[in-house]
Amino acid sequence: MTPIKTLLGATALMALAAPAFAQEVNLYSSRHYDSDDALYTAFTEATGIKVNRIEAEANELIQRMKAEGANSPADVFMTVDVGNIGRAEAEGLLQPFASDIIEANVPAHLRHPDNLWTGLSQRARIIFYARDRVENPPQTYEALADPAYRGQICIRSSSNVYNQSLMASIIENNGEAAARDWAEGVVANMARPPQGGDTDQLRGLVSGECDIAVANTYYFARGLASEVSGLSSGIDGIGWVWPNQDGRGAHVNLVAAGIAARAPNKAEATALLEFLVGEAAQKQFAEANNEYPVLAGVAPDAHVTAMGDFKPDTETPTASFRDHVVAAQTIFNAVGWD
Ligand SMILES: [Fe+2]
Repeated sequence: MTPIKTLLGATALMALAAPAFAQEVNLYSSRHYDSDDALYTAFTEATGIKVNRIEAEANELIQRMKAEGANSPADVFMTVDVGNIGRAEAEGLLQPFASDIIEANVPAHLRHPDNLWTGLSQRARIIFYARDRVENPPQTYEALADPAYRGQICIRSSSNVYNQSLMASIIENNGEAAARDWAEGVVANMARPPQGGDTDQLRGLVSGECDIAVANTYYFARGLASEVSGLSSGIDGIGWVWPNQDGRGAHVNLVAAGIAARAPNKAEATALLEFLVGEAAQKQFAEANNEYPVLAGVAPDAHVTAMGDFKPDTETPTASFRDHVVAAQTIFNAVGWD
């Protein structure tokens, strides 16, 4: 009897779902992890909605949506970093979602104030250092500009959106004049001209080229969880500081998604976002990139947990990063941060 009961239950569910859904959702995503496939399969199994994924760099997807205009099949736009989703927002490519579930599951500072997008997972951008060479590592982002750290700091280029968002948060908190002084100080403290990605800044600690590095947490956790060449072998020698713990907390950025302005399948798009911020999906989604879930009470994976607890910056609205993108770039250019 049990198999028949199950089958009937499943059929009943499908029948309920059928009238409300066109049964597909088009996801434009700049995030790709093979492990996410299982997540989208689970969504389809739970709802009967098929996920069609189009993957490319954030800027390419934005250009594509613009070019497609009113005929764009895009339902959901997903990207890494608030700076990128803010660009889609500025182009008028997103519309607000209406969902009690998302509002209940995602804290307000991790969502757009008008619900044009929601965070799906979090990463912190923090300070790492070589344990054997740095006795008193900087305890705040502001301290990275302290002359005590002359020639010691490795941080990537200003064209990188992570640094643009970090700079935007510094402008939001300290103002443009102080942010410019800060950037000047950081440039003066650089161990080398900016080069490579975040992993390369951490590799610099292992090779001895850098004493202090700025990187997103998941690059370090990845070095703990798997064999990352030039990093994992020396990772025990790397310490880390959760910055600004006596103040606003560590700078946090997001993987974020919103509903496309012309979404032909808006109900399905909402259902997908609700699924991704749900308890079942949250752990899996964050684990795929060693990140932190946005849903309170869901623990990150063991390697992320091993880095310890910290106070994230919940005072600075992530949505405010976009407001300072132009000012951030102007400052970077003015102080010669390549
Ligand atoms: Fe990254």
